[in-house]
Amino acid sequence: MSPLPRTIAIDGPAAAGKTSVGRALAERLGYLLLDTGMMYRAATLAALKAGVDLADEDAMVNLMNSISIDVIESRSDSGAISCSILVNGEDVSDELYTSLVDANVSVVAAHAGVRKILVEMQRRIGKRGRVVMIGRDIGTVVMPDADLKFYLDASPEVRARRRYKERHGADPYEAILADMRRRDTIDSTREVTPLRAAPDAIVIDTTDMSLDAVIEAAWNHVKKFERETNRREGYDHQVETPG
Ligand code: CDP
Repeated sequence: MSPLPRTIAIDGPAAAGKTSVGRALAERLGYLLLDTGMMYRAATLAALKAGVDLADEDAMVNLMNSISIDVIESRSDSGAISCSILVNGEDVSDELYTSLVDANVSVVAAHAGVRKILVEMQRRIGKRGRVVMIGRDIGTVVMPDADLKFYLDASPEVRARRRYKERHGADPYEAILADMRRRDTIDSTREVTPLRAAPDAIVIDTTDMSLDAVIEAAWNHVKKFERETNRREGYDHQVETPG
């Protein structure tokens, strides 16, 4: 058995650095990187295209049951295995990060019926191990027994500035900040599995940290996990074979 963590959960609010940190860990470990936000975004995009009322939970669940959402894995040059999302066989990965999807996704993600369908898929992928999974409820609901859990946070202003840069100024900073605050509120106050750090999560406030520093901090925890497993197994071994 590998002494490395089999499953890593990364949760936190929008643009806290989850994807960049998750990608770096997945690359170093050669693991699958699953960003569950893509799945909620794909459901939102499908509803927008079909003209379904996003606030209507029954209509959303009916839609989810009438379409196929598939997660396709592909090994990237960097060593990580990344995911594309197909809706009815069509790759929609490049259509998921628009201000229209941003503005609507938290309403869709607040429906218990929608979450049930997507969490089920995520759990199946998590069970196989060798995965870094990113989201809002990974450490609390999807993989509560993940070997390592991170919760990344940062001030709303810093997160909005990061997103603004990421989108190359396509949307105004003020609009991004307002959207982020609105989503933070919906995500952390919704009835079903609101955004929370798991009690056993390692919380990293990234407000004043560079991305590299956050990656190294997270990587140090992976190495610490490895050392502790090795020490424990060495100890167990000694106990099993005294003398
Ligand atoms: O990239 P960003 O952090 O802005 O968002 P995302 O991770 O792509 O997630 C988009 C939205 O999906 C979030 O604002 C949540 O409303 C929802 N989401 C969720 O409820 N549970 C997850 N595990 C992942 C995303």
